[in-house]
Amino acid sequence: MISAQGHTADTQEESRVSKELELAYKELIQYARDLRETVQREQQKTRELEGAYFDTVMRLTRACELRDNETGAHINRLGEYTFLVARCLGMPVDQQKLLSAAAPLHDIGKIGVPDSVLLKAGGYTTEEFNMMKQHTVIGANILAGSVSPLLEAAREIALTHHERFDGTGYPQGLSGEQIPLSGRIVMLADVYDALRSQRPYKPPYEHDAACNIILNGDGRTLPEHFDPTILDVFRSEHKWFDEIFRNTRGK
Ligand SMILES: [Fe+2]
Ligand SMILES: [Fe+2]
Repeated sequence: MISAQGHTADTQEESRVSKELELAYKELIQYARDLRETVQREQQKTRELEGAYFDTVMRLTRACELRDNETGAHINRLGEYTFLVARCLGMPVDQQKLLSAAAPLHDIGKIGVPDSVLLKAGGYTTEEFNMMKQHTVIGANILAGSVSPLLEAAREIALTHHERFDGTGYPQGLSGEQIPLSGRIVMLADVYDALRSQRPYKPPYEHDAACNIILNGDGRTLPEHFDPTILDVFRSEHKWFDEIFRNTRGK
């Protein structure tokens, strides 16, 4: 049998527990609010930081335009071809954006190549060609050591955009999937754009001629140089390459 005294003690205990629970609940709500604000602040900081990296890359890209005898239009087109291929390969949207923003820096290492070699109109001696090849390593060194995924992607592209799928490229002679996907994409984009452009040693080719060289080879460029999957994308989507080339000519 429960006494009146015992009943009062139980009621007091219940009310104390209920007050404590109420207090804990309020604290929990406040904690969740603080946490949400902290996360929002951090997200804002991350967005600002990413924006700053994109801004830095854009400015470096402009510096490349000044140094390189290739035009700014070539540099911008590389970003667009890369975006197209990355999208056709089904890469996540943030990767498509990242790679297309990083691709224009592929030749940043030309900053470190002497003018006498970089601006030479005629054919290179072996020694000069070796100096020219170094633009890949120089570029990678300039971009190395950043915590930014964008600059890291740019480093990877700078280092590997002259590697070939069959292992005959430079600077490391990597082959197949040893070459990062980003480098394999930019390599095809760079070859297509170079074929369409005037060079001291060649006239600009029309789209059909450039396609024929990439898909069937001409002795100098061979289909084996390219990742077969990326070559398939080029085979089916080549008209967009032409579209990009014509729309950004001279921009
Ligand atoms: Fe290059
Ligand atoms: Fe290039």
